[in-house]
Amino acid sequence: MMKNLRIAVLPGDGIGPEVISEAVIVLELLKKLDPSFTIEWDTFDWSSEYYLKYGKMMPEDGLETLKTYDAILFGAIGDKRVPDDVTIWELIMPIRKCFNQYINLRPVKLLKGTPTRFADEAIDFVIIRENAEGEYSNSGGRLYPGLDQEVAVQNTIITRAGTAKAARFAFEYAEKHGKRTVTSATKSNAIVHSMKLWDEAVSQVAQDYPAINLQSYYIDALAAYFVSRPKDFEVVVASNLFGDILSDLGSAIVGGLGLSPSANLNPEGEFPSMFEPVHGSAPDIAGRGMANPIAQIWSTALMLNHLGREDLGALIIESIEEVLEKKEVRTPDLGGHATTSEMGSAIRNALQQLLLVKEGR
Ligand code: NAI
Ligand code: MG
Repeated sequence: MMKNLRIAVLPGDGIGPEVISEAVIVLELLKKLDPSFTIEWDTFDWSSEYYLKYGKMMPEDGLETLKTYDAILFGAIGDKRVPDDVTIWELIMPIRKCFNQYINLRPVKLLKGTPTRFADEAIDFVIIRENAEGEYSNSGGRLYPGLDQEVAVQNTIITRAGTAKAARFAFEYAEKHGKRTVTSATKSNAIVHSMKLWDEAVSQVAQDYPAINLQSYYIDALAAYFVSRPKDFEVVVASNLFGDILSDLGSAIVGGLGLSPSANLNPEGEFPSMFEPVHGSAPDIAGRGMANPIAQIWSTALMLNHLGREDLGALIIESIEEVLEKKEVRTPDLGGHATTSEMGSAIRNALQQLLLVKEGR
């Protein structure tokens, strides 16, 4: 019997609440149809609205509260009325950093039926992004504010230990999933201190995995290869900034941000991991019922995988693929007219059918 899972749901801003409510109904359906799936959730309204009311993105004890959950399902954050660095650095970053979510995992998988220029390619890889340090450190500062000689220093923090942990996760992932090659994104020809250490730490870890091949590409060339031969990749490991950029590029080749999920993982399980779509709050389409909920629902599948219910995670992805393949229900980003909730219910109908078949009913 599974233990009772407890999830914290943070819808956030803009389309966040719209897409997350579709994901929550998926969880309700699974709970109803599978008695062994015991899950509960609490929803927290920590968002820009909350900030405008209370002057902070979450309560003082917000992280203490989240820490008691098995996982966090996050929507998106960002609102014109609050600076983006406040929403990001006071909500998402504290969660990622304090919960030691040092891996960001982003699948780049082309599902059948996805409208993209790459429709005939078998694209199926993951980007493993170092998520705790690298270029996204807030180490640095400014001198001579406002004067002509103003200087800004932004430090990149690459550590041997941090890089090795990301690399080890990538090689373990490759081993577990039967992949043969790990590709490392680097730029050690130009960024000679930090990226050389990155290369060394990755190569050192690779020695523990003789059956898996390590290939290292400069980030600019790699960006081009993502477009010219995307089916050649299996597992890509990258620093925080490189991984961030590569994952939006990866998302674009397999159908766009509406379809792209991500997981912020604390692999040791000392803290909850967080699951969220790659996209932001999409203010340009918020409130119009036209956001694609697939990225959020797929992120929920990644959460279930992480919580030991790979069976249910796989069924969710199968349902998404079935709906895409039928081409009947499509949100505007996929060239259709369906609403967020029509897409959500199409996926749940497919899921319900799959579950009934699985149980032989
Ligand atoms: P965005 O991802 O919100 O939107 C980029 C484009 O993709 C927009 O045209 C949007 O309409 C479209 N799009 C995104 N998700 C979609 C979906 N599910 N279905 C259909 N179309 C979708 O990125 P943008 O515009 O750069 O940022 C908007 C706000 O979101 C900013 O405040 C930014 O800081 C924040 N942001 C938050 C993130 C997070 O919560 N993790 C990540 C990225 C941005
Ligand atoms: Mg990004």
